[in-house]
Amino acid sequence: MTHVAVLPGDGIGPEVTAEALRVLDALGIDHTEHPFGGNAILAQGTPLPEATLAACRAADAVLLAAVGLPELEGQPVRPEQGLLALRKELGVYANLRPARAGRIDLLIVRELVGGLYFGAKGTRDDGTWFDTCEYSRPEVERIARRAFEIARERGSRLTSVDKVNVLHTSRLWRDVVTELGETEYSDVPLDHALVDSFAMTIVNAPESIGVVVTENTFGDILSDVAAAVTGGLGLAASASLGDGGPGLFEPVHGSAPQIAGQGIANPAAMLRSLALMLHHGLGRPDEASALERAVDDALEAAPTGDLGGDSTTSGMGDAVLRSLDVHA
Ligand code: NAD
Ligand code: IPM
Ligand code: MN
Repeated sequence: MTHVAVLPGDGIGPEVTAEALRVLDALGIDHTEHPFGGNAILAQGTPLPEATLAACRAADAVLLAAVGLPELEGQPVRPEQGLLALRKELGVYANLRPARAGRIDLLIVRELVGGLYFGAKGTRDDGTWFDTCEYSRPEVERIARRAFEIARERGSRLTSVDKVNVLHTSRLWRDVVTELGETEYSDVPLDHALVDSFAMTIVNAPESIGVVVTENTFGDILSDVAAAVTGGLGLAASASLGDGGPGLFEPVHGSAPQIAGQGIANPAAMLRSLALMLHHGLGRPDEASALERAVDDALEAAPTGDLGGDSTTSGMGDAVLRSLDVHA
């Protein structure tokens, strides 16, 4: 039987998770919840307890809301470390972050388990602190291949974003992507962009963008920019996939501590992540489309405060469930 491991996390995480659980129940999908993030640190001293990791590995897919507690910022053990460890443990190297609105339909394919996030880091004897951006050829090849496949399937252009004018790893990145484009994917239109000016393109001409492939840190930043031009973080969902094994599905947003506990967070990003899970993680594309349509309807019918409306989190959830009935 299909089983989903659910990690509500911190802040608004449990609030938006509640709406996702209602949808999972409506679809008859079995699920269990597990401690993860700041709450797990406070209760057990670690953001990713062994039992949580085991449950994720054993599941067909993992649905995660958000982690992060202001009181743990700058502490030696932080919620975010659990998230990085979970991504690494599950081997979900391809993070798909779609951004759609009106004529905009772009997809950022963010490398998720390498680069600046995972390279050597530390403090030298002279007091210098450092982080290192590291990539091997196979790491770049697998993410590039995934992005080419997606672009081919969508019939869109692939833009590879790097900083080849400065960074050594960007030279490897550009060489590998160019090579693959020439040898295996000559049918996919390919171009390259530098990350700084590409950030501007996302703001100025987002409708000109198709599929984007980029390094971990660049993808983190660019996906918040893409979210901002398509309705904000309350709407932005993501799917993190490896080669087999359970995928990890999570909103782009964080735990939003300023609005946590008020019941006003927008659950759309979480519900769209659930739709991505139905599609890419559980092989249930019809339910995925029905849920996507239901969320679109609910955004019209019961918008939350971030969208200029006054619906509560559960108010939007109600609207989604009503509409899901119609589309199912
Ligand atoms: P954030 O994404 O939590 O919030 C940024 C802004 O967007 C805030 O104004 C917030 O109120 C708003 N926002 C975010 N989600 C929303 C929603 N669903 N509905 C309405 N408004 C929403 O980013 P931040 O404030 O920089 O980070 C807060 C914490 O979250 C930090 O600890 C950070 O590390 C963590 N974080 C976690 C994840 C994750 O778990 N995947 C992602 C990003 C940030
Ligand atoms: C995201 C978040 C995470 C990241 C943090 C919380 C580790 O910002 O998923 O975008 O930087 O990957
Ligand atoms: Mn981010």
